[in-house]
Amino acid sequence: MLLLLLLLLLLLFVTALLVPVSSSQQQQQTTNNELGFIYNGFHQSATNSLISTDGVAEITSKGLLRLTNETKQQKGHAFYTHPFQFKDPSTRLALSFSTTFVFAIATEIRDLSGHGIVFVISPSKTLPGSLPSQFLGLFNKTSNGDPSNHVVGVELDTIYSSEFNDPNDNHVGIDINSLASEVSAPAGFHVDDATAYNNGGFRNLSLISGDPMQVWIDYDGSKKQLNVTLAPIDVPNKPKIPLLSLSRDLSPILLDAMYVGFSSATGSVFTSHYILGWSFKMRSTEADAIDLSALPKVPRIGPKKKSKLPTIGVPILVAIFVLLTSYGIYYLVKRRRKFAEIIEDWELIYGPQRFKYKDLYIATKGFKEKELLGTGGFGSVYRGVLRGSKTEVAVKRVSHESRQGVREFIAEIVSMGQLRHRNLVQLLGYCRRKGELILVYDFMPNGSLDKLLFGPVGSATLNWGQRLHVIKGVATGLLYLHEEWEQVVIHRDIKASNVLLDGELNGRLGDFGLARLYDHGVEMRTTHVVGTPGYLAPELARNGKATKRTDVYAFGIFVMEVVCGKRPIFGAAEEEEEEEAVLVDWVVSCWNKGAVLQVVDPRLSGGSGDVKEMELALKVGLLCSHAVVNARPSMRQVVQFLEGDVAPTPLPANLDSSFYCGMPFPQFGEGFDHSYPSSSDRGFVSMSSVTDSILSTGR
Ligand SMILES: *[C@@H]1O[C@H](CO)[C@@H](O)[C@H](O)[C@H]1NC(C)=O
Ligand SMILES: *[C@@H]1O[C@H](CO)[C@@H](O)[C@H](O)[C@H]1NC(C)=O
Ligand SMILES: *[C@@H]1O[C@H](CO)[C@@H](O)[C@H](O)[C@H]1NC(C)=O
Ligand SMILES: *[C@@H]1O[C@H](CO)[C@@H](O)[C@H](O)[C@H]1NC(C)=O
Repeated sequence: MLLLLLLLLLLLFVTALLVPVSSSQQQQQTTNNELGFIYNGFHQSATNSLISTDGVAEITSKGLLRLTNETKQQKGHAFYTHPFQFKDPSTRLALSFSTTFVFAIATEIRDLSGHGIVFVISPSKTLPGSLPSQFLGLFNKTSNGDPSNHVVGVELDTIYSSEFNDPNDNHVGIDINSLASEVSAPAGFHVDDATAYNNGGFRNLSLISGDPMQVWIDYDGSKKQLNVTLAPIDVPNKPKIPLLSLSRDLSPILLDAMYVGFSSATGSVFTSHYILGWSFKMRSTEADAIDLSALPKVPRIGPKKKSKLPTIGVPILVAIFVLLTSYGIYYLVKRRRKFAEIIEDWELIYGPQRFKYKDLYIATKGFKEKELLGTGGFGSVYRGVLRGSKTEVAVKRVSHESRQGVREFIAEIVSMGQLRHRNLVQLLGYCRRKGELILVYDFMPNGSLDKLLFGPVGSATLNWGQRLHVIKGVATGLLYLHEEWEQVVIHRDIKASNVLLDGELNGRLGDFGLARLYDHGVEMRTTHVVGTPGYLAPELARNGKATKRTDVYAFGIFVMEVVCGKRPIFGAAEEEEEEEAVLVDWVVSCWNKGAVLQVVDPRLSGGSGDVKEMELALKVGLLCSHAVVNARPSMRQVVQFLEGDVAPTPLPANLDSSFYCGMPFPQFGEGFDHSYPSSSDRGFVSMSSVTDSILSTGR
């Protein structure tokens, strides 16, 4: 009985010896008990001594088992030093075994590689007589297919070799004594939840991608079945469906003691084949799991790749840097140029009147078409909103070629910026660029008067009260220019299109850039006639001398324009002929007929009070547009007449029409500038004539 107990204890002891050491104790070290081992990287030199290498294979300092070292036409072998017992000693049948490893194939050239890796079970650690390249360091031409090889391999083949019936250049095969695989399949894996994927849940893999992949090779000795499974290492679990499954009794092929290891070979492309981790176990169909987090990193391909950085990478980086910097400089220069202005020393005193081009650019949204208010002969006027103050402005761009006279012109502009009157369009400032002058004015929301007077039939117009208000306003503004400012300002281009209407429909004189500045009492001759035909006093056309009285003449014509709703020179519609008629002649003839009110704009339906005012306005118009200079009243008198403070000078019942010689087409002298009714639009301030007259003559 005691003997039986002792025997049982002995039996237990023996089985305990046979049971493999638990995997936790095996971490990072080789079990030398002939049942298995695990390498989570090849870091530890003590256990690395249990790996025998030959050919170009070696264990690197980074803990990688490198089978080939970027040389061509080489082979490398790495085997576990000790052989394993692969056959049951009593039944002589092949035992179950299981291995798993992580590999990576790094190639110099994308999509091309050396040959592959084979997991080998072989009677020899050195595979004598074997060749590199397509023989994968396993066999040679004569030994390939020889049953005396006793070699079982699982190839990860990256080259298509027709002699071995390879399916393609990226496949996995089970090799028995021959490189012509018993079974093979394109590299890939079956995802576990196949229903969630197309293609039967199969995913292709590229063996030479350089990405680490894991292989499981399991042989079930009782089922006599060999499974091979492949998966990328980011797949959490071993796929349930193997890539390859071979039902074959390995007993006739395998010998009792066999070595396990890897063979690899390069061809004509620099390639490195790496094993990152490896686990093997006999008498099991499930090798211990590799700790993937402990694996070493796969280096980019060695010196070849590194040497590319200075030869290719650095020049590319330098080129990119140079490109970026030059673009940056180009951008800055372009930006500088885009917003470049001309500022001269003398301009510094005008500081507040000077606008920054950039601000105007932003205010007008880059002088956008949409902001365009109108275009005249010399430039365009844009609506803008100043950034800080949110003030609406009219921005006029005037191109100018000549630098001559600019200083004087700017001086005028700036001094006119000091003119402040509710019946003048306020000039806010200017900006100067090469070949361009930009003037900034108050924005006039109701546009120019002529648009309302001469708009198409049925369009909105002003009633009499509004018209009289505008006439009085313009008269007041002109009086301010003539007599009330520190200098005499002659406007020189009074006409309906130069009168703008603000939000309250006050008439405001614009375009007084045409005006010349006269010191009070100082008579000044100008050699240059500016103005608009139809508004020109007869003496102005003769001697080109602009005076306060030439302004008064033009004002008279303007008044008639507003009352009659007709341009100074108009098509005489009554005669059914498109003959040109002169407004002042027509008014005089109606006056002489004693029916002056016939000229009143038919769009004005007048009450009795209105009629008196209309008659008064026409009288003032006729007084002002008298051909004899001294017969014209001053602007102060005009304002008094219009306000009813003073009765206007009586006019004879029959006017001598020779004193009202309208000059539709005067013989313009040398240096005469035409200033045709400009295409002023909403808020438009025509500065065309001023720049023409001042900049071109250079004063
Ligand atoms: C590859 O290994 C061979 C043999 O060990 C050696 O002669 C050769 O220099 C190695 N090449 C590289 C690139 O490391
Ligand atoms: C082929 O390999 C065998 C061993 O497997 C060896 O005996 C033989 O000499 C080799 N033949 C050649 C031509 O290298
Ligand atoms: C996967 O690989 C096979 C064989 O190389 C090829 O026929 C198939 O088109 C590939 N499938 C995809 C989705 O790339
Ligand atoms: C091989 O795979 C099949 C599933 O396709 C499985 O039933 C069998 O147990 C596997 N054999 C081994 C040895 O892992």
